[in-house]
Amino acid sequence: MIRAFGPGRVNLIGEHTDYNGGRALPFAIDRGVTVEVERAPGGAISAAARDLDETDEFAVAQPGGADGWRAFVRGVVAELGAAGIEFPGARLSISGDVPPGSGLASSAALEAALCTALLALAGAPEPDRVELARLCSRVENEWAGAQTGLLDQLAALCCREDHALRIDFATLELAHVPLELRGWQLATLDSGAERSHATGGYNERRAECRTACETLGVEHLSAADPAAADRLPGPLRRRVRHVLSENERVDAMVDALLAHDMQSAGRLLDASHASLRDDYDASVPEVEDAVARLKHAGAAGARMVGGGFGGSVLALFAPEAAIPSDARAVAPGPAARRL
Ligand code: GLA
Repeated sequence: MIRAFGPGRVNLIGEHTDYNGGRALPFAIDRGVTVEVERAPGGAISAAARDLDETDEFAVAQPGGADGWRAFVRGVVAELGAAGIEFPGARLSISGDVPPGSGLASSAALEAALCTALLALAGAPEPDRVELARLCSRVENEWAGAQTGLLDQLAALCCREDHALRIDFATLELAHVPLELRGWQLATLDSGAERSHATGGYNERRAECRTACETLGVEHLSAADPAAADRLPGPLRRRVRHVLSENERVDAMVDALLAHDMQSAGRLLDASHASLRDDYDASVPEVEDAVARLKHAGAAGARMVGGGFGGSVLALFAPEAAIPSDARAVAPGPAARRL
């Protein structure tokens, strides 16, 4: 029996920058998805999603499409096959503690755990992790219909314990930045509003960013000239302003972490949230309530994490503060691995 774990992620800062050639600073968390796999006779995969009490069965050689969690399993099997990895029929069991729609990248956790488990089953050497992240991203885009960027997959596959991962999406340069809390606490609070990347605002924002790129004649928005962006019509102008200011906040956050200036880190979380709410229009009332509750409880800073339009809020608390009982502490953990 092979067991593999794919972590969820919290993005400390740098939201909606991945598909805009910008920068982000995620870390992997200790919650995620565990996949157990064992060889089975015949050329079929049977998969069970334990938390949902659902199953799926398909031929390794011809997975075909499906909806929901099944799309990720079939997509990973198909994409590994297309990458030349051969594995036998197998029985898969999936369980996790990152609820889908909670904004903590449950689907990337699933993809990373599946890849790690199936590569071990095949006895294949692991490809470069950035390449593996791209493969997982294809699953997301082409099999699950979500036009997400590479943030979640790189976080699940490349993060390091006690560090955040600075990603420059224009170059895919990665840098591990020490995230030392020294008693400070990070916690997430689920807003209760579930969101899906395949529907709703996420794909709409991507389309707006594409339009802004075409109008400005740039390859991605991080390359936009702020003065030219200021001449765009209202919503597009605000989208670009978010991306450019968020990139700067990522750099400022790296500086704050290196200086262990947690008050500044908190202010940057607040500023990121304000920008996502006011310039990117990515908030919803439930998320605003969660932010207000965390701030009221004494958070030094709080912001929505992930795609927005629901999901979780991240907050930073000083050492002496008590985090609300329904918030959960998070700390930077290791990337996907065999257990
Ligand atoms: C989701 C997507 C990521 C990224 C974030 C927003 O988590 O999966 O690719 O775009 O939203 O930063």
